[in-house]
Amino acid sequence: MTVTIKDIAKQAGVSITTVSRIINNKAEGIRKETCEKVLKVVEELHYKPNSIARSMITKKTYTIGLVIPDIRNPFFPELVRGVEDVANAAQYTVFLCNTDSSHRKETDYLAIMKEKNVDGIIFTGPQELQSKDFYQSVQEYEIPIILLDRGQEIEDFSGVYIDNVQAGYMATKHLLELSHQNIGCITGPAAIPNSNERYKGYLKAFSEFQIPVDESIVIPGNYQMEGGYVAAKALLKERDVTAIFAFNDLMAFGVYQAAYELGIKIPEDLSVVGFDNLPFNQLIRPKLTTIEQSAYKMGEIAAKMLFDQINNEKSVKEQVFIEPTLIINGSTKEHA
Ligand code: RIB
Repeated sequence: MTVTIKDIAKQAGVSITTVSRIINNKAEGIRKETCEKVLKVVEELHYKPNSIARSMITKKTYTIGLVIPDIRNPFFPELVRGVEDVANAAQYTVFLCNTDSSHRKETDYLAIMKEKNVDGIIFTGPQELQSKDFYQSVQEYEIPIILLDRGQEIEDFSGVYIDNVQAGYMATKHLLELSHQNIGCITGPAAIPNSNERYKGYLKAFSEFQIPVDESIVIPGNYQMEGGYVAAKALLKERDVTAIFAFNDLMAFGVYQAAYELGIKIPEDLSVVGFDNLPFNQLIRPKLTTIEQSAYKMGEIAAKMLFDQINNEKSVKEQVFIEPTLIINGSTKEHA
């Protein structure tokens, strides 16, 4: 037979309201002995709060939505883990939504999260849902929304990001300092603002070295391995690039594959820089020089920011930027 909050109250000799306040951490003003007695009965009877009944009392479902574009890209599980560890510690459940960066799935999932009465949403910045659409589609939501990794151009919402311009500048400057000038650039999708920010960093580094940029060696990619492979084949076959900066590690792995097929050695014949510092970097040789984003830490900070807003401890809008770091490994060397 299911144990109810009524059974707990009866056995502990207190009111249902008292039990509810104690199990929902709202026990201000209740004697310590009473709390201990109630919690002892909860344990003895193996009581599990009925989530619907609980949410009717606390007006919370103790769930949050986490919307990401591509769970297959190993960058995102690190982000998800940072969020989930904080949510789990707060006794919250995370609904993970994968959008494939599609407009329909982004809007569908936002509607589903509203229907499920989640207490808050962490959204890895809209791609198809550009800022004005996104704002319009969620402005009637009365729950906190935190943007994560993408969406920094949407200043109406708090968010956690890295400084993508600085990161792109650091990666490119590293290659210029190694005397490379024909530095191929494989970007992310143009629809994703953080790719455009990284490109600004690429341009900034060339400008600082007073070297003109050859637009013909800037190739659009798709943040996937296949996109890096196709772009690298074009760069390596038709252009005399001595280095390639790929805007994420998956595309850099595609560069490795293309170079291998063309008999081009890394770093002897070609220097390569990636972005994300994926765990797989420990397995490939030479290990990839890349940008560390601290994805787990970004997820952790975003989740703490969300719970501060859910618990009304903080509502000021803030954008937090994590400093990127350049991780120099064996995939880059001085251009002779
Ligand atoms: O690898 C995928 C890219 O998209 C990462 O660099 C991350 O910033 C995400 O936005």
